[in-house]
Amino acid sequence: MLNLPDIIIAVDGYSSTGKSSFAKLVAKEFGFVYLDSGALYRAVTLFAQESQLISRMNIINPALEREIQDLPLRFSPDNRTFIGDRCVEKEIRSMEVSSQVSPISALQYVRDFVDRKLHEYGAHGRVVMDGRDIGTTVFPDAEIKVFMTASDEVRAKRRYDELVAKGEFPVFEEVVKNIKERDYIDSHREASPLQRAADAFELDNSNMTISEEVAWLKGLVQGKFNIL
Ligand code: DC
Repeated sequence: MLNLPDIIIAVDGYSSTGKSSFAKLVAKEFGFVYLDSGALYRAVTLFAQESQLISRMNIINPALEREIQDLPLRFSPDNRTFIGDRCVEKEIRSMEVSSQVSPISALQYVRDFVDRKLHEYGAHGRVVMDGRDIGTTVFPDAEIKVFMTASDEVRAKRRYDELVAKGEFPVFEEVVKNIKERDYIDSHREASPLQRAADAFELDNSNMTISEEVAWLKGLVQGKFNIL
């Protein structure tokens, strides 16, 4: 294992570019903690849906701001997402949550709430965090920033396979539509839109295996910290 200082590795990019698989494996290889910021936005969305604070037409009740302040969101040591004692890992990955997470995550008060949690978890470094605005807004001083991209087809296929593996019955065209919609909202919203940080390294993994991706990052980190 590389002998690294207590750094933060920020992994941002479009939906279904394989950020979480990459970030998880990097964390494992480096002995760091993996943190999935999208899981927190998804958990807030699930909470809003279950509390009927968001309508089918994406109308959000302003009471959500007050209601989330004490929401006991947390990650377990094995990276599962909990609201209090309830593990919501499966529910937050459903199409239902995916279809409403972008309007919820566009709200500044939701972003502030999630950012506070992420800062608690990332306070001591040695984390790999994935999301949309980690390198630009949450941890703009992260020592290593990666911006991931992949072709639309590759991304839709990955998302589709993921949902099938979970026992869902997705319609491929709907998966494509959801990815495109999320890309659009995520990169056009006013509050910390998805964009590449000026000092981020771009990783297009359309034609790469995950071990090639990790080897690429290792090389980059070794170069930056002069580690052989
Ligand atoms: O990474 P993901 O697909 O699980 O993220 C779900 C949604 O959360 C995504 O559509 C946008 C939002 N998100 C965000 O706005 N900022 C982040 N740092 C992470 C996710």
